[in-house]
Amino acid sequence: MTQDEMKQAAAEAALAFVEEGSIVGVGTGSTANHFIDGLGRMKSRIRGAVASSEASAERLAGHGIELFDLNHVSEMPVYVDGADEIDASLAMIKGGGGALTREKIVAEVATRFVCICDETKQVEVLGHYPLPVEVIPMAQALVARELSALGGRPVPRAGFVTDNGNLILDVHGLEIRDPAGLETAINQIPGVVTNGLFARRGADVLLLATPNGVRKLT
Ligand code: 5RP
Repeated sequence: MTQDEMKQAAAEAALAFVEEGSIVGVGTGSTANHFIDGLGRMKSRIRGAVASSEASAERLAGHGIELFDLNHVSEMPVYVDGADEIDASLAMIKGGGGALTREKIVAEVATRFVCICDETKQVEVLGHYPLPVEVIPMAQALVARELSALGGRPVPRAGFVTDNGNLILDVHGLEIRDPAGLETAINQIPGVVTNGLFARRGADVLLLATPNGVRKLT
């Protein structure tokens, strides 16, 4: 089974969490794309979706799924998205695709966060994958110095601008033993929009695809 086939299996399993007639929160990335394609097959059974990126919005629209502005949505039973790393407490590093801020906003509105991953994303300690931090451009140098003081090695993501018009610093070399504490600490730095730690509000359910099937962890 290839990694992409595992991503697809996790995404297909997440369709069972979609409630009839609901508005679905939709993540970003290759695993989320498989979920969007599955959602396309059951579009007559949902009201529509809120997208966490322009890319996902375009793919959802391509399936004829109605898009909702989050400001007009007060109830969203489920948000489904992938992750770059996830630990046993279901804290995650996200933002490999640069959509971390909108992902965190949409996830916050949802009652339940269902994370869909292949088994390569499961780790004991977060941080091997560089932690993305979205930064307002004028604060890049300041934020980079502060992230270095926290023990990381920030590297600007070359040629990348987020959907919100900002930059990403990918922070290498972290061994994240206190994900919620680091999430809060980084968010205190002026100029940081969001960081890719999803620990204060982690996943509620992990659908982890392995060559032997999809495991559900809570
Ligand atoms: C995008 C994300 C993605 O969920 C994460 O990068 C995983 O991507 P993929 O499903 O392509 O492996 O956080 O900002």
